[in-house]
Amino acid sequence: MSVIKVAILGFGTVGEGVYRTIQSHAEEITAVLGKKVEVTAILIQNKQKKREVREDVLLTTDFAEILQLPQLDVVIEAIVDIEPTFTYLKKAIGRGCHIITANKEMFAHHGKELLGLARENNVLVGYEATVAGGIPVIQTLRQLLKINRVSLIQGILNGTSNFILSEMREKKQSFAESLLQAQKNGYAEADPTNDVEGFDAFYKAMILSRIAFGEEPNWHDVERQGITSITNELMEAAEKLGLRFKHVASISREDGRVVAAVKPVLVGNENPFYHVEGVENAVNVHSDIVGRITLQGPGAGMFPTASAMIEDLVYVCQSHSIEHIGSRKECSKGKPDSEKPKEHWLIHGGIKKEADSAITWIDKVAKDTFIIEAAQKDLEQFVQQQSEVCYFSILGEVDLPVLNKAAVSVI
Ligand SMILES: NC(=O)c1ccc[n+]([C@@H]2O[C@H](COP(=O)([O-])OP(=O)(O)OC[C@H]3O[C@@H](n4cnc5c(N)ncnc54)[C@H](OP(=O)(O)O)[C@@H]3O)[C@@H](O)[C@H]2O)c1
Repeated sequence: MSVIKVAILGFGTVGEGVYRTIQSHAEEITAVLGKKVEVTAILIQNKQKKREVREDVLLTTDFAEILQLPQLDVVIEAIVDIEPTFTYLKKAIGRGCHIITANKEMFAHHGKELLGLARENNVLVGYEATVAGGIPVIQTLRQLLKINRVSLIQGILNGTSNFILSEMREKKQSFAESLLQAQKNGYAEADPTNDVEGFDAFYKAMILSRIAFGEEPNWHDVERQGITSITNELMEAAEKLGLRFKHVASISREDGRVVAAVKPVLVGNENPFYHVEGVENAVNVHSDIVGRITLQGPGAGMFPTASAMIEDLVYVCQSHSIEHIGSRKECSKGKPDSEKPKEHWLIHGGIKKEADSAITWIDKVAKDTFIIEAAQKDLEQFVQQQSEVCYFSILGEVDLPVLNKAAVSVI
């Protein structure tokens, strides 16, 4: 029986998970591929750390040694940072290897180049693990996109932010206390900026955009807002209305162009995101035939992430065209701005101006906190004339309870 030889770059949470899964599921993998998969080399940084790997596996800190192996079919990458990862993967492709990556930051920046290079070298790229960990969102999109037209993708793509929001709501803890808890549990890094300021979700959204719509919006045009502005006061106001804060990335095609935003929004009980708690991730895909489907599951962790990478391993070894399928440019046309329906918003802050005619003041939720109805562009215009005002979109149709309608007249 012929053998598929694999190198794993990195032996941390993800790399070790992949190594262990290849051993524990050897029988299943061989049955599917008709070939054995053998890990022949592992790239690490610190040779002093003890690793539980077979003695015949080359454990090295020198990537050149891996490239020189007499047989190398697949390089599975689970290290960190954009460089040297990008350089290593370019070299692996040049050597004729399929590559599989979990590194969303690197892939958001250089995925296009890697896919182009892979095409030229007739190899494949697997990147399921870059978005929503163990949830097979990329595979699902590829399958859907064969016939369906995807119009909108929304996702809770960062487990750390979702955990912090859940803790704040359930335990009435401050943002700082909840972040500390996330760090104690190993969900947040010492520097949590990537997670809580929405960068991580942004990278994942850009990867999804490329798959679903064949292109990305201009990165500078994407509204990216983290969760640091959410206070317990705002959470309480939302709870009164039966709403929960969720940090949501959305990507859609409007007026022929792809638009995306990553920001906190409010969802009601009927929205599947309402029930997504802790470190879980979830993705809603809206498409024309099937309607809305929701995928939910572990967005990170040793074995969920390894699961995504092993599925990619099977794909690349079966030589399916995993990176070209699906990306489709044409899609349903969005409505021009003037025809866009008004939405509901929670608006909070020292609102000084008289009510704007383009804004309907619906209810007063708490001090300085109102529910309004407005088109986004009108609200943005209104907010520009205010200082220290924040606002959050309420996703979908929700039945809002009447709280304090009379008090709205104070505006
Ligand atoms: N953790 C998750 O649940 C998860 C989920 C989805 C995607 N990812 C992505 O997967 C990647 C790996 O994450 P992780 O959590 O497994 O990280 P990790 O636990 O910190 O492990 C990183 C591993 O890479 C090695 N490494 C780092 N830089 C290296 C370099 N320049 N050369 C050689 N080896 C290097 C480290 O070596 P030493 O062991 O010698 O220090 C370590 O084994 C990241 O891009 C992350 O964003 C992670």
